[in-house]
Amino acid sequence: MTTHPVVDMTTDTLLTTTRSVRKRLDLSRDVPLELVRECLTIALQAPTSANRQHWSFIVIADPGQKRRIAEIYKRQWDWLASTPYAVGVRFADDPTRAPQQSRAADSGAYLAEHLAEVPVLVLPCIEVEGDGQITPSNQADTWGSIMPAAWSFMLAARTRGLGTAWTSLSTSVEPEIRSVIGYPDNVYHASLIPTAYYTGETFKPGTRQPLDDVLHLDTW
Ligand SMILES: Cc1cc2nc3c(=O)[nH]c(=O)nc-3n(C[C@H](O)[C@H](O)[C@H](O)COP(=O)(O)O)c2cc1C
Repeated sequence: MTTHPVVDMTTDTLLTTTRSVRKRLDLSRDVPLELVRECLTIALQAPTSANRQHWSFIVIADPGQKRRIAEIYKRQWDWLASTPYAVGVRFADDPTRAPQQSRAADSGAYLAEHLAEVPVLVLPCIEVEGDGQITPSNQADTWGSIMPAAWSFMLAARTRGLGTAWTSLSTSVEPEIRSVIGYPDNVYHASLIPTAYYTGETFKPGTRQPLDDVLHLDTW
């Protein structure tokens, strides 16, 4: 079935070393559509609310389309970078977290600069029934029906030599993205996932806050 040798690793290694790949995306190497299709086929095994499978996956490799999307993304990155919500500004006063935030900002800026050169952009999308509006009562079902599949795509990609990164900047300007791609008003993209072969061989587990800081047993 596979068009690329699957990297041999344990499940725990896969789950702990699937990083946001930005600077290590190989911008010079084409990604076969067949390989993306293979990762998406695996993603289709993810759960959806009521087994509706109301998802769509937009794969963009056309240079003109990528350029248009990348321009929107870069504008959003530049805007966010000037706000207190920017990744590099958060936790700036915490010496244990600031360096990691700063690296993410640097890497994110690189991606924003080079997004149009990434071989493939994947947008996992979800349809909202009824009037097509995302509301407090349907939002968990909505995002919960696409995020597991999107993450499965990223994991399947990782084992086939492809690096990815979850990005959401473009979701804040959905109408603009929708008009470039032409998807319906009741469909929303959950993420924009740059996809390319990664350079180098290995990835390390990321630094995380301790489990005991976020674990609640029986009551909050
Ligand atoms: C909901 C969500 C939104 C994100 N949006 C962006 C984004 O717009 N651009 C970007 O470069 N990274 C984005 N990221 C990636 C995070 O910055 C990254 O996961 C975090 O820095 C931890 O790094 P790691 O994934 O390599 O462990 C996003 C991640 C999530 C889960």
